[in-house]
Amino acid sequence: MSVTLAPMEGVVDQYMRDILTRIGGIDLCVSEFIRVSNNLYPRRKFIEICPELETGGKTAAGIPVHVQLMGGDPVLLAENADKVARIGAPGIDLNFGCPAKTVNRNDAGATLLQWPDRLYEVTSAVRRAVPDHIPVSAKMRLGFEDKSMYLENAHAVEAAGASKLTIHARTKLEGYRPPAHWENLVPIREALSITVVANGEIWTREDFDKCKSICGYEHYMMGRGMIARPSLGLEVKDPAYSKFEWSHIIHLLEDYHKLLQQMRQPLRQAGRLKQWIKLMGRTYPESAALFTRIRRLNSPDEIMEQVYHEKSLMAF
Ligand SMILES: Cc1cc2nc3c(=O)[nH]c(=O)nc-3n(C[C@H](O)[C@H](O)[C@H](O)COP(=O)(O)O)c2cc1C
Repeated sequence: MSVTLAPMEGVVDQYMRDILTRIGGIDLCVSEFIRVSNNLYPRRKFIEICPELETGGKTAAGIPVHVQLMGGDPVLLAENADKVARIGAPGIDLNFGCPAKTVNRNDAGATLLQWPDRLYEVTSAVRRAVPDHIPVSAKMRLGFEDKSMYLENAHAVEAAGASKLTIHARTKLEGYRPPAHWENLVPIREALSITVVANGEIWTREDFDKCKSICGYEHYMMGRGMIARPSLGLEVKDPAYSKFEWSHIIHLLEDYHKLLQQMRQPLRQAGRLKQWIKLMGRTYPESAALFTRIRRLNSPDEIMEQVYHEKSLMAF
């Protein structure tokens, strides 16, 4: 069984990966997507999105970070994949799931799910460009507007030589609206012999158990659930674990704040802190209450004052 921390642009950056992989329960991370549209990126672009490339492609806790590329041009993707592999990416993941309109209008992300032969072309070009020992994987949704082609798409990715396919169990049209259609993951598992990874709408250990009983997968990717409930990876791997106490979450926020100081603009630091506190409101009523107090603050120090206030309350 394995747990992958989902790629989440604007949320799961190097700081979040660092914090969450130190906690444990995560076997692999995937970077935020790197949009490949018309050039071969310089080294610094890859390092900017995935600074772990400078530390052996691993987080401080030693968890590998695969680099995700997104685009529709097989030649350009292959060139960029080759380059980032040389820089030290321990794996390349291809994004066939992004639902953003601007991305889809520009021939990238989920739009490619309309043409299984294009998934094949992109994946096989990248596979050929990257040394054999570096795994190439893909991440897709169940379809663009409907679910009529997911098996064809899954077969295309396998035939192109990918060693793993992650499926976010919704179409592009379904966006992020619950439910995720875990039942549609079954035929993909039955049809493919490469590793398949289930993704979508796992927020708790109960969700995980239900998803597993429906789809029967061994491997899982979790995104928002992992942010909202940082113990989730530990909990799904070992029933002895339960949700972290709020006091533990406060410590994590302090650690996160320290890491965020590497971000230049304080406004961005504040944005990240608010984002995490808001998402954790789904698991912790204390975080939801804290968020109402900090939502209008734009200084990380002011936000942390409120976090320290929470901490002082814990002392009683
Ligand atoms: C804010 C946000 C950013 C995302 N960025 C990416 C991305 O860069 N690459 C990708 O493949 N998926 C991305 N996703 C999709 C997630 O990886 C995942 O498939 C989706 O959130 C469903 O899983 P979850 O219910 O466990 O969150 C993003 C999702 C969100 C909400």
